[in-house]
Amino acid sequence: MSPIVLDGHSNGHAHTDSFKKRREEDMDGFGTRAIHVGSEPDQQTGAVIPAISLSTTYKQEGVGIHKGFEYSRSGNPNRNAFERTLASLESGGAHALAFSSGSATTATVLSSIGPNAHIVSVNDVYGGTFRYMSRVAKENQGVDTTFIDLENADEEEIRQAIQPNTKLIWIESPTNPTLRLIDIPRIVSIAHSHPFKPLVLVDNTFLSPYYSSPLLQGADIVVHSLTKYVNGHSDVVMGAAILPAHHAALRERLAFLQNAIGAVDGEGCDGRVRGHAVGAVEEGAAAGDGLQVREVVEEGVADGGVDEHVRVAVEGELAQRGFAGFDEDGAQVLAVGHPREVAHIALESRLIPERISRLGRD
Ligand SMILES: Cc1ncc(COP(=O)(O)O)c(C=O)c1O
Repeated sequence: MSPIVLDGHSNGHAHTDSFKKRREEDMDGFGTRAIHVGSEPDQQTGAVIPAISLSTTYKQEGVGIHKGFEYSRSGNPNRNAFERTLASLESGGAHALAFSSGSATTATVLSSIGPNAHIVSVNDVYGGTFRYMSRVAKENQGVDTTFIDLENADEEEIRQAIQPNTKLIWIESPTNPTLRLIDIPRIVSIAHSHPFKPLVLVDNTFLSPYYSSPLLQGADIVVHSLTKYVNGHSDVVMGAAILPAHHAALRERLAFLQNAIGAVDGEGCDGRVRGHAVGAVEEGAAAGDGLQVREVVEEGVADGGVDEHVRVAVEGELAQRGFAGFDEDGAQVLAVGHPREVAHIALESRLIPERISRLGRD
């Protein structure tokens, strides 16, 4: 897939149209890429399923002369293959790095910004990310984070929060758990036109590459907890960072840290991770489920004012904000119970078969 990155600025029609066109082109073949990229038939045997490489170390013909693999933490055929799959699925992506969890991805990316840096983060960021920023990066690296409501803050407020040492604007959209929707092109435009030029990172866990393509909207880094939609089976804990072609130097820095920190996955990159193909199908089904859950909650809430209790990401809103794949006239697709009563109704409905800690269909 050719890694084209569209201009991240403005919400103008030209941008939206080219973004949509590129998204549509990319979605054509998404399922095929999910199954085949990184899973090419073995050249020696013709096996269509890649062999699992259990070896931790690799024979060298001479000192430092090898076939591209030396030690499994630094590089492993299964991880390399899986990283190619991820780069092909995240539209606009050229480089992908797989980590042992979404949290290990966060830790590695935040290590890359060095000591005494500053981050601007959406205020409703995933709790573990908030904890890492405020307890680990802050205490161990002297990294300060300014948490802002990036959904509602005006441009001036965001611009003023950016300091000379601001290395990163951290977006999660929709946020976990209250589904705040962040206008990614707006934030990209503010960041990239600012004299201090912070990078824009989007945690795309919630929508997955199937529904959202932040790199096509100008984001510099996309991260995922693969533990959620992308794997789809609730049997793998992993994470990833994906970058566009023009961030080859940043890719090198993250790959260095991936190896230095050792936040790599021992086994998940093997056959089990082919769940990512299921993730794509699961997304489509989840859209229908969100609508059904909302109906149940609507019936169950005493005063009928479901909008006051449930934050629902409406398809049309997602479409307007540049989430391709959503229809302007479409239905509600994601619902989250807010107060306990609403959460209880949703969880007790038979639409949610398991009460577990996970984003996804369950
Ligand atoms: C949005 C988001 N990002 C990151 C993470 C962390 O991922 P992991 O649990 O794979 O470490 C989570 C986990 O729930 C999440 O919801």
